[in-house]
Amino acid sequence: MLDTRFRFENIIGNSEAITQVFDLMRKISDIDANVLITGESGTGKELVAQCIHANSKRSHKPFVPLNCGGLPENLVESEIFGHVKGAFTDAKQSRVGLIEHARGGTFFLDEIGELPMPLQVKFLRVLEDHKIRRLGSNEEIEIDIRLISATNQNIEALIGEGRFREDLFYRLNTFEIHLPPLRERQGDIQLLVHHFLNYFAETSEKAVQGISTEAMDVLCEYTYPGNVRELMHVMERAVALSDVDTIQLEDLPENLITQTEDIIGSAQTDLPFQDAKDAVIENFEQTFIDRLLKAHNGNVSRAARKNGTDRRTLQRLISKYAIDVSTYR
Ligand SMILES: Nc1ncnc2c1ncn2[C@@H]1O[C@H](COP(=O)(O)OP(=O)(O)OP(=O)(O)O)[C@@H](O)[C@H]1O
Ligand SMILES: [Mg+2]
Repeated sequence: MLDTRFRFENIIGNSEAITQVFDLMRKISDIDANVLITGESGTGKELVAQCIHANSKRSHKPFVPLNCGGLPENLVESEIFGHVKGAFTDAKQSRVGLIEHARGGTFFLDEIGELPMPLQVKFLRVLEDHKIRRLGSNEEIEIDIRLISATNQNIEALIGEGRFREDLFYRLNTFEIHLPPLRERQGDIQLLVHHFLNYFAETSEKAVQGISTEAMDVLCEYTYPGNVRELMHVMERAVALSDVDTIQLEDLPENLITQTEDIIGSAQTDLPFQDAKDAVIENFEQTFIDRLLKAHNGNVSRAARKNGTDRRTLQRLISKYAIDVSTYR
């Protein structure tokens, strides 16, 4: 039976962008092709991977995740492939690798961009021959897995820098699912807010039922460098803090409220420079267009003319942020 946590309808959203993701997921769940899921941190890559597995014919077999990041090379290798006793100094006992645990099911390689080069070579062979060898063993073991991998890095850039094998990349991304950052699917924010509000109200047994318009406005305008995960934590905190039945502005973290007031001041130093800069610029673009459209009652041509901006430039930005111009009329 399908684990109810991983039904498609548990991926919340109805923006154009996420609808396209659903369509693709439906098409590829049941075929055995490898899938590469890309997107910034917190956009839902693992959730999508689990949903694909749960909706595939492998659903009654294991879904085995491994994060390739942060582990030393030899450890990742024995995690994946297993080893026999005495294969290396610390190998006091033999061990079955994760890839064997995933037999018949789905192996999820998270942060694939971090997979060390020598292991990339080994992995390529697994995908070609469907066979593995435990470390220190000569015995070949047949392996039937579906591989789903995920990354928040630009793999093509890594290939350019000689840090990722192009041949492996083409094996991994028979299908690529890109999850756009939350700031590019603003239309999903309200749904997600209500979803998490209900979820945390239920699990914490609090009688929170709604959210004030001011608080919702701030949530809709914020740019979420941490994407859906950040929004989820914001809602968890808001439900916990709330002492009336509606979430108020003061239940939201200070940085969300000040971001819209002071765009540059919100630059996040815990993000890489380029990401922080992009977030600031996107935040600025959204606020600017919002004000411009408000000032001209959603008349795009007039807004462009009065502002001295090319109409097409304005239209492109309106599409980029999926802004519904009719709401300004
Ligand atoms: N569209 C969505 N609807 C409901 N919950 C979501 C959605 N997208 C993400 N989430 C939730 O947000 C959290 C973060 O998602 P997930 O762990 O899948 O992100 P990720 O892209 O794998 O992030 P990272 O790159 O940091 O590993 C999870 O708790 C997930 O269930
Ligand atoms: Mg993840």
